[in-house]
Amino acid sequence: MARPKIALIGAGQIGGTLAHLAAIKELGDIVLFDISEGTPEGKALDIAESGPSEGFDAKMSGTQSYEDIAGADVCIVTAGVPRKPGMSRDDLLGINLKVMKSVGEGIRDHAPNAFVICITNPLDAMVWALREFSGLPHEKVCGMAGVLDSARFRHFLAEEFQVSMRDVTAFVLGGHGDTMVPLTRYSTVAGIPLPDMVKMGWTTQEKLDAIVQRTRDGGAEIVGLLKTGSAFYAPATSAIEMAEAFLKDQKRVLPCAAYVDGALGLKGMYVGVPTVIGAGGIEKVLDIKMTKDEQAMFDSSVSAVQGLVDACKGIDSSLA
Ligand code: APR
Repeated sequence: MARPKIALIGAGQIGGTLAHLAAIKELGDIVLFDISEGTPEGKALDIAESGPSEGFDAKMSGTQSYEDIAGADVCIVTAGVPRKPGMSRDDLLGINLKVMKSVGEGIRDHAPNAFVICITNPLDAMVWALREFSGLPHEKVCGMAGVLDSARFRHFLAEEFQVSMRDVTAFVLGGHGDTMVPLTRYSTVAGIPLPDMVKMGWTTQEKLDAIVQRTRDGGAEIVGLLKTGSAFYAPATSAIEMAEAFLKDQKRVLPCAAYVDGALGLKGMYVGVPTVIGAGGIEKVLDIKMTKDEQAMFDSSVSAVQGLVDACKGIDSSLA
């Protein structure tokens, strides 16, 4: 059987890391696409040359032509510009919207059967725009944010409790931005919900609140340290987890920016929700029940996302 084909649209910091991870995990043959001449070719060759030592079988290539992504099973989109210190994800809207138009059309014309994972920010609005421009079925286009946000949350919690990250689960909802909603009630240490961990004296409410805030600011913390760009190792790892769930029909329950029409009281929009990812793409959105406070936080996150989608419609009238 032929190996799956994975197209990485954008061969920058995240794109290169995605290629390396996909090769090491032998998820398929990899095509790196970028408008910057030499970048995808150089990264593809460099990673291919790591193959003999690592011992993976995966074909690597770089291109500036959308024709080379033809028939891709998975497309992961990182094309666009990342944040610099002091910028919010929303500041990227105008530039990255134009990029989503060309990428969406490229995928529509050459890889219409792919499962598409968008990483470009501001995430929830960009994945919506990418879906509009590509015209692919909603269940085949999603955005990577929740896996990363919950990974950050899990990391901070594991440090606080001094336990393995593997035993910490975390639940994050809403838009990928300052309004994201980490739900402590649904986050656990080996099945024990975080509010119970507070009651058991393992941590205090103040410390937990600080961890929640640090999770919300997780991206900005890294931008502040790097100064020249934004996070790339953890974002790439998170997207690979989603791609693997699709390619291996794992039915993973993962939070991601998915199209929600009916569940959680939402009518036809992209926002971070718990989903099941398998061979059908986003096979299910989990319609969880929230408390009044959680619902209020989620509602404000939903309005922030809606505001960005409206801004996109204002910039590009074909989206209105
Ligand atoms: N088509 C294809 N590639 C493009 C286009 C385009 N129209 N415009 C820009 N690119 C490429 C750039 O040439 C660059 O190589 O996208 C790549 C982006 O890479 P980086 O600048 O290194 O950014 P990265 O850190 O990978 O982040 C990419 O993901 O997390 C988000 O906020 C982040 O929006 C940003 C995206």
